[in-house]
Amino acid sequence: MKSAVVLLAFLAVSQGLLRIPLMRGKSARQLLEERGLFEEYRRKFPYNPSAKFLPRNEQSVVPMTFDPDTTYYGVIGIGTPPQFFRVLFDTGSSDLWVPSVRCTSSACDRHGKFNSSASSTFQAGTNPFYISYNSGFAAGSTGYDIIKISDLYVEHQLFGLTETEAVFLGSVPWDGILGLAFPSMSLEGGTPIFDNMWNQGKIPQNMFSMYLSSSVEGSVLILGGTDPSYYTGDINWIPLYQATNFWNIQIQSITINGNTVACSGGCEAVVDSGTSLITGTSKDINNINGWLGASPGQYGDAAVSCSNMNLLPNIVFNINGYSFSLPPSAFVIKSASGCRTGFAPGTWILGEVFMRQFYTAFDIGNNMVGFAQAV
Ligand SMILES: *[C@@H]1O[C@H](CO)[C@@H](O)[C@H](O)[C@H]1NC(C)=O
Repeated sequence: MKSAVVLLAFLAVSQGLLRIPLMRGKSARQLLEERGLFEEYRRKFPYNPSAKFLPRNEQSVVPMTFDPDTTYYGVIGIGTPPQFFRVLFDTGSSDLWVPSVRCTSSACDRHGKFNSSASSTFQAGTNPFYISYNSGFAAGSTGYDIIKISDLYVEHQLFGLTETEAVFLGSVPWDGILGLAFPSMSLEGGTPIFDNMWNQGKIPQNMFSMYLSSSVEGSVLILGGTDPSYYTGDINWIPLYQATNFWNIQIQSITINGNTVACSGGCEAVVDSGTSLITGTSKDINNINGWLGASPGQYGDAAVSCSNMNLLPNIVFNINGYSFSLPPSAFVIKSASGCRTGFAPGTWILGEVFMRQFYTAFDIGNNMVGFAQAV
C-alpha cells in the first residue's frame, strides 16, 4: 500500500515536467589553451566571476565576466518557424539573448544568428540592450517572440538580439545566454522567461532543477519540478538568504576533518550555474587551497598533483544544518595543463564544481534552493 501511494505521488510530480538535455561542449579555456592563447587571455582578463553580482552602476550596466570554463548548453527555438540556438542556462543572470543576423562581429560568425524577418511572430522592442562584461560586451536591440523549449512554447518573450559582441565570445560553445535569476536583475527590463512560463501556466510547479553530469552527455535541466531519477536520498532545502535578485544562500561554515577552514561565522553565497568553479574571499580560498597543499600553477591556478588527488580530504559545506561533502573527485579539475583545485578567489559562489556533486532545485514559489546527492 505504502509503495502504491509513493508511486502515485511520483507519477503526479513527474507529470508535466520538461526535461531539456544539456550538452557539455569544449570550454573556451580548452580552445584557447589548444591555440596557445589562454595565457594572454588570462593576463588581460583575470578570473573574476563575482563581477556580475556587484551592485549595479547608474547606467544599469551589470559588469559581468565571461567564465572561460563554462561548458553546459541546451537548445531552444525562437520564432515561427523556430530558429534553433545553443544557450547557457545561467542562474546568475536574468536576460535572454542570442546573436542576430545584423551582428557583424567575428564572434557572431561562429554562432547561429537569429533572422527576425524570417519569423512571422517576431515583434520589435523599443529598447536597446547592452551588457558589459569583464572581458568585453554584448549589445544590440530587443524584440519579442515565441520561445520553444522542449515541447513548451513561451509566448511574447522579450529577448536581446546582439549586433556587436566581444571577440572572446567566439570561443564559447554556446550562442547565447538564457538567464534564470530574478526579474529585478534583468537589464532588458522585461519578465524573465521562467516567470513567463509560470505566469502562462505552462509548468506544474514554480521551480526548476538541474543535473550536471561530468560526461559530455547526460546533463539535464528540468522545468516545473524535480526528477528523483537524478538524485539519491532527500533534497535538503535551504531558504534564500536576503534574496533580492539572485539565488543567494547562507553557508554556516566550511570544514575539513572537523576544522573550520572558511566561512567562520557564516558567509553568503550565490548558487550559479553560469560559474564554473567555487569562489570565495581570497583569505578563505587561500586557506582551503593551503589545506589541500596546492601551489600557484600556470595561469595563477591552485595546482595540485594529479597522482595524489585521492589522498586529499573532503571539503564539507555546512548549510542550514545540513552537511554537503565534496570529495576530491568533485573539486579537482583535470586539464591538459595538469590538475588544479576548483577553488578560486572572488566573492562566494557555488558554481558547477558544486552543482555536479549535488543535484540542485531552484524553488521560486517558496524562495528556496535544494541540494541532493547527484546520481
Ligand atoms: C532573413 O529572412 C528573410 C526572409 O525569409 C530573407 O529574405 C533574408 O535573406 C534573410 N536574411 C539573412 C541574412 O539570412
